[in-house]
Amino acid sequence: MKVACTGRSRALGARIAEILGAGLAETRISRFPDGEIYLQTGPLDGSTVVVGSLLSGDSLVELLLLIDACQRSEVQLVVPYLGYARQDREFKPGEPVSARAMARALSTGVDRVVTVNVHKETVLSHFTVPAAQVTLEAEISDFIAALDLTDPLILAPDEGAASFVATVAARGGWETDNLEKTRVSGTEVRMEPLGRGPWTGDVVLVDDIISTGGTLATAARMLRGQGARGVHAVCVHGLFTGNAVERLGSSGMDEIAASDTIESPQSRYSAAGAIARALSR
Ligand code: R5P
Repeated sequence: MKVACTGRSRALGARIAEILGAGLAETRISRFPDGEIYLQTGPLDGSTVVVGSLLSGDSLVELLLLIDACQRSEVQLVVPYLGYARQDREFKPGEPVSARAMARALSTGVDRVVTVNVHKETVLSHFTVPAAQVTLEAEISDFIAALDLTDPLILAPDEGAASFVATVAARGGWETDNLEKTRVSGTEVRMEPLGRGPWTGDVVLVDDIISTGGTLATAARMLRGQGARGVHAVCVHGLFTGNAVERLGSSGMDEIAASDTIESPQSRYSAAGAIARALSR
């Protein structure tokens, strides 16, 4: 078995290969003069794990090309971050179900798909091959435990994240709660104060995605205003769009951590173990 990765998923791909005891298929990626992407893989075996997060138009093209380049072997596709999953229905007439469009495109030429903390599980039904997600409650819980905080409150920024965050908290034996968020625009949210009264200890905000940082920056400012001693953020997928990291820092956030589903300086824990276990099943 070989593991072949797109350009933005090389570190995670190497970790998965190491855990599986598989070789890495070197992938050379460059551009033709007109901007089209050129890709070439090294020698493959009978079975290939293709690893690539879907982050942008280019990353989708890279993934499609890599899947095609691996067609002489069986292909298991790992999409650590499945972009476009948030447009999971037609919110206004004439809109695409973008998650469905991506899932259909990525089903071609692969035997099965594994992804990580997809925004909504129903998205998996759009793949035309078997598709499963792994979720990182255990990894996040272990990461928080290593911070060595005294009785932290594990807080979800909205109701949508509450059940995932409650599982993280239960694993560590910590208290949990959730805030109530109303989205004002793509970059701004409004948040109701924490109902349980001032929390003067450490708070760890846990979410599936940090994109512009608007959600967690708003929560951090409010918690600091209510007297929280420390505010930390842990997410699965750290998109960190634009100046998100600076925005979070200036909101009073002590710590910003994400997994390596999207590789960045904030990648502080790995999804590789969970993905490798799913592939071995
Ligand atoms: C929304 O439902 C997600 O769970 C995240 O809370 C959201 O994507 C975060 O976005 P941002 O960082 O731009 O506020």
